[in-house]
Amino acid sequence: DTLSVPQVFRDPAALRLALSGRGVIGFVPTMGYLHDGHATLMRQARQACDTVVLSIFVNPLQFGPKEDFASYPRDLERDLAVAASAGVDYVFAPSEETMYPAGFSTRVSVEGVSETLDGASRPGHFTGVATVVLKLLNLVRPDMVFLGEKDWQQVAVLRRMVTDLNVTVTVQGVPTVREPSGLAMSSRNSYLNDEQRARAAVLSRSLRAVQAAYAAGERRTAALRQAGMQVLTGDPEVQPDYLTVVDGNLQEPEQIQAGPESRILVAARMFGVRLIDNMPLLAAE
Ligand code: PAJ
Repeated sequence: DTLSVPQVFRDPAALRLALSGRGVIGFVPTMGYLHDGHATLMRQARQACDTVVLSIFVNPLQFGPKEDFASYPRDLERDLAVAASAGVDYVFAPSEETMYPAGFSTRVSVEGVSETLDGASRPGHFTGVATVVLKLLNLVRPDMVFLGEKDWQQVAVLRRMVTDLNVTVTVQGVPTVREPSGLAMSSRNSYLNDEQRARAAVLSRSLRAVQAAYAAGERRTAALRQAGMQVLTGDPEVQPDYLTVVDGNLQEPEQIQAGPESRILVAARMFGVRLIDNMPLLAAE
């Protein structure tokens, strides 16, 4: 196979023209600095669709004033090589002016699922995500959108938005891709050196500890949470934000059964970087 570099569009109208008559369109929205987690979404889209569109846009609207928008890693050349090897046809990389021209005033706010966990810790974050993703869906008009389960709450928020606003797209969730250490791949891992990355695997180990407690018969969420917290706080560098076992509404019940909606979620700061991870209650991935 010869790899052709995907065509890059900055202009939405030119992208729309290129996409007309191109069959089933699969879409992978990203903020770039692509890793194998992103590439897995692209490969799944490649398998399921005729045409694959990747977007790269570091969305200022979803970063808080004290967050890392300015320092967020960017490398378009490298991203294009990753996209090419994953079989992406087109890359949409709009400018900030294209997405948010002077006078832009609309926000998409998803109540309920946006308000807990990361929504509580990062005010306005999911409104920024929902707003940009709805805009991207309107510009690309894909048949399928591929989202990583790494961001479990983000998938829940966007599913809710698509349903509530009658967006005619199929949402496909994709399991989390991990380093051999268990650390979930993330563009933000580039902020960590090798030793710090090895230490950051404690998040996934804390989730495994909850799975082990569940497998041993524990059903009370407080006890499950404690089993995870014991592992998480074993490393003094960890500043936990939350560790919780939730149902489909992203709420923690008193007791829980494994199922497709049940999930263990963790967020913590380590070495100045905010990290998140999640797993099902039954070890599978
Ligand atoms: P970003 O963090 O670049 O992630 C883009 C997509 O890749 C998301 O769907 C995310 O869940 C998925 N992803 C990231 N790491 C992954 C991993 N280790 N395994 C599987 N999938 C992974 O999420 C965003 O960008 C933005 O919020 C966006 C949706 C693009 C809106 O701006």
